[in-house]
Amino acid sequence: MPSVVVVGLQWGDEGKGKVIDLLAEFADVVVRFQGGANAGHTVRFGDTKIITNLIPSGASRPGKKVIIGPSVVLDPDRLLGEIQALQAGGFLVEPERLLISDRCHLVLPYHKLLDEAREKSRGRAKIGTTLRGIGPCLEDKASRLGIRAADLLQTTELEDKLAMRVREVNALLRMYGFAEVDIKQLLADTMDKAERLKSYLADVGEIVRLEMERGKNILFEGAQGAMLDIDHGTYPFVTSSSTIAASACTSLGISPQKIDLVVGVLKAYTTRVGEGPFPTELHDERGEILRQAGGEFGATTGRPRRCGWLDLVALKYAVALNGAGYLCITKLDVLSCFDELQIGVAYQLDGNPLPGIPARSAVLARVEPVLEKAEGWKNYPGRICDIREQQDLPRETKKYLDKISGALSVPVGLISVGPTRAETIMVKNPFRR
Ligand code: GDP
Ligand code: IMO
Ligand code: MG
Repeated sequence: MPSVVVVGLQWGDEGKGKVIDLLAEFADVVVRFQGGANAGHTVRFGDTKIITNLIPSGASRPGKKVIIGPSVVLDPDRLLGEIQALQAGGFLVEPERLLISDRCHLVLPYHKLLDEAREKSRGRAKIGTTLRGIGPCLEDKASRLGIRAADLLQTTELEDKLAMRVREVNALLRMYGFAEVDIKQLLADTMDKAERLKSYLADVGEIVRLEMERGKNILFEGAQGAMLDIDHGTYPFVTSSSTIAASACTSLGISPQKIDLVVGVLKAYTTRVGEGPFPTELHDERGEILRQAGGEFGATTGRPRRCGWLDLVALKYAVALNGAGYLCITKLDVLSCFDELQIGVAYQLDGNPLPGIPARSAVLARVEPVLEKAEGWKNYPGRICDIREQQDLPRETKKYLDKISGALSVPVGLISVGPTRAETIMVKNPFRR
């Protein structure tokens, strides 16, 4: 039975939440494997709208087991808020159903303060982070100074670890001109959250390996996108984790040989939140049209997303990094407002072709995209969000999809023509061979 990994192929917000909600119908277990509450995954069906930051979007499907893997950085405040919001909406996430890795590093209030302090000190060179403390928490993990979920179970050890960490954190905060953390308050708060989180903690790597052995269908939910990957993305304008498919294996502790399919999600155009190079960005009214038509405002921070044409150069790179074998193309309906579309097919630097993606963001920021024209489907008399069969799509839309699939040499498995569950054309079910 298949294990399927879903990842974003651009700069995040490709519509992974919608895809996970759709595919979760065929899965037994849904596992979020990296990132933290910097993610915002939207699921819509009927009048219901759910935005998840940490809990897998598969929580929208009653009865499916949902798991938070070891590489996810866990913000106890956000998690408890999310559990409460889901329960209030009628989506039960009791401890038998939601399992959280006891290896997860905790995002504590000082990580968020340090995130803010660093961003402020960078001035115009800021990253534009979500201020969710992701970078500082993962720094602590790499420095072996982190506090993990399992530490919540051992009070005296936790006190010692926190006290030691806060000494250095306070020195840093003083340097940035920020108020220091009160260790007593922090301890009391952390212990209070620990009480409410304990029953969710488990060795989830072992559980996922067992479920795989039993032949269950496992759906791995990625966050962010390939171009935000710490190693392969537009560094330093990236997130602090590995966002590519291989990260599902390192997070859960499973062999790469056990992954049957990587599903890559891409928007029919490109968006990016925060700073950093974006070769096909539109700085004119067409960017604003895309932002309004696509509702391109961050699910997590509400920030307006930068918008531009599809970028096949970055997508080819993302497909290679992930080994994507199935494409989900979302938000095709949003492009319906244009007479003519453009697609970035190559990069040029100082008038010369540029092979590959340059390592330095300063170079990528100077790149000129080579744009090819594509016919729009504005004159189609119906609304493409009402179409449910691929063959019924307007001729121009089919050509646009063929162009993407051909350039990337990956078949299109799912086409999304609107935000809700129903507004979807599933060409092939990735859980059925
Ligand atoms: P994620 O982070 O990849 O899960 O994506 P987000 O949820 O942050 O952003 C995607 C946004 O696009 C959400 O508001 C979705 O409801 C919406 N969306 C997803 N698919 C479609 C689609 O095909 N058409 C339109 N119009 N909206 C979509
Ligand atoms: P989902 O899972 C879009 C961006 C931030 C910033 C950079 C670093 O919803 O696709 P961080 O807070 O991670 O240190 O910020 O990464 N970013 C995202 N952009 N979607 C996301 O997640 C993102 N998660 C982080 O805007 O530019
Ligand atoms: Mg998002």
